[in-house]
Amino acid sequence: MTVIRTRVAIVGAGPAGLLLSHLLADAGIESVIVDSRTREQIETTIRAGILEQGTVDLLVASGASTRVLTDGNRHDGIELRFAGEGHRIDFPSLTGRSVWLYPQHEVLKDLVATRLAAGQDLRFGVRVDAVDDAASDRPRVIGVDADGQRVEIEAEFVVGADGSRSVVRQTLGGSAAGSFREYPFAWFGILCEAPPSSEELIYSNSDAGFALISQRSSTVQRMYFQCDPEADPDALSEAQIWDELQARVPGTTLHEGPIFQRDVLRFRSFVAGELRRGRVALIGDAAHTVPPTGAKGMNLAVADVVLLDIALRALLLSGDEGPIDAFAETAARRIWKAQHFSWWMTSMLHRTPDASDFDRRRQLGELRSIIDSDAGRTYLAEAYTGWPFETRLG
Ligand code: PHB
Repeated sequence: MTVIRTRVAIVGAGPAGLLLSHLLADAGIESVIVDSRTREQIETTIRAGILEQGTVDLLVASGASTRVLTDGNRHDGIELRFAGEGHRIDFPSLTGRSVWLYPQHEVLKDLVATRLAAGQDLRFGVRVDAVDDAASDRPRVIGVDADGQRVEIEAEFVVGADGSRSVVRQTLGGSAAGSFREYPFAWFGILCEAPPSSEELIYSNSDAGFALISQRSSTVQRMYFQCDPEADPDALSEAQIWDELQARVPGTTLHEGPIFQRDVLRFRSFVAGELRRGRVALIGDAAHTVPPTGAKGMNLAVADVVLLDIALRALLLSGDEGPIDAFAETAARRIWKAQHFSWWMTSMLHRTPDASDFDRRRQLGELRSIIDSDAGRTYLAEAYTGWPFETRLG
């Protein structure tokens, strides 16, 4: 058996775990990160692509990524399309902020490289089975490494950054403990080789259902359309996929091209019942899941990290427990704002299978209320570009 001693044991090498280790290292706080996946799996899994202004500022200021500025693209607005017309929401004029299109796996490549260059103890292929002694000041992570050897990490604090199927969350309070809702639809996502069909993202509510036209580069595009959660991603031909997409963005002719990746993304909203117990905290998808419509997933993880970094510095450098005691309640405020925003964008833009004529017209009335009102556009722009991060806790 291998026994590792460190100050903070981080389970999960996703954006939340890696960024936390990076910020803690800056304060001289050592950590160990373990992840059940391989480095290649982590760096190639396709996820969403929108970073809030605050996320970008933090990645750059902390030295975690400069590529976001050179290889990412700043977007100053999105288009809401409904009833056959497009309406642009201009972020800088409404909020002074923007967002960046920079795929999550690129953020991960930057973070893994930065952490390894700094000598971070980062172990792939380690399956965590449990967290023991969470209530004591020496909690332990128990797992099995890539060679089948038992590993124990003894730390002063354990962080569950291990995604929506979090083992750390299960050891805290059972996997289902929390608030959640399911949705009667999912997204059919594609990556294709084609020039962009639009410079900015189009979120389209149409009679045929929702579509999102997003981008990746000048030659690769990402698009989604609303589908049944049970849909088989391989059941449609490329021609059928293009027909579905084209029907949902009336007014735009999409540039078509070979589709080289397809997936069905199920929707779920979830917040864990306990975000922290004793010397264990949950961050990122381990703590919450949002539907992808508001592009909040990774940004919310970064906001958790900002708070936990403040709390752990106070606890581990000064023995001050006030900030860690305030962590869960403070994190939950932003989490529930983001839950609301993600649910709202989702419900306003999708067609539910049983929608009546009243439901449909009310939904168009809601969209019109937003675009006709400076206050409505400003709310959407503030939430989409991201509320400012907290700078202190407790
Ligand atoms: C993406 O480009 O993958 C993307 C963008 C915006 C969203 C969701 C996904 O709301």
